[in-house]
Amino acid sequence: SEDEVVNVTFITKDGSRVAVRGKVGDNLLYLAHRYEIPMEGACEASLACTTCHVYVHDNFYEALPAPEEKEDDLLDMAPFLKENSRLGCQIILSKDLEGLEVELPKATRNFYVDGHTPKPH
Ligand code: FES
Repeated sequence: SEDEVVNVTFITKDGSRVAVRGKVGDNLLYLAHRYEIPMEGACEASLACTTCHVYVHDNFYEALPAPEEKEDDLLDMAPFLKENSRLGCQIILSKDLEGLEVELPKATRNFYVDGHTPKPH
């Protein structure tokens, strides 16, 4: 229904703004994929990569639940880390996030943990 809609804007690497309609409970990574936004998500939201790295604009960073320790540890390995960095697959849409803007970093790295061999490039 209409009151479950959460409008989200993705800002891609080339600076394009793509506005999409998500809904309460959507995982940001899968929302991006549904609209063919190039957010990688190499580990399928299992907190074992950093390729879903996004910058969360404005006050929305504060509106998010604090990252788990594991997300924090992973973010430390993400290239181009900023103060408002989060892993996109850990962002679940809620009404508090209406108007959310997230920006993709200029590059990500497939750096697997949990038994995978690191693949720097
Ligand atoms: Fe791998 Fe988010 S998709 S941590």
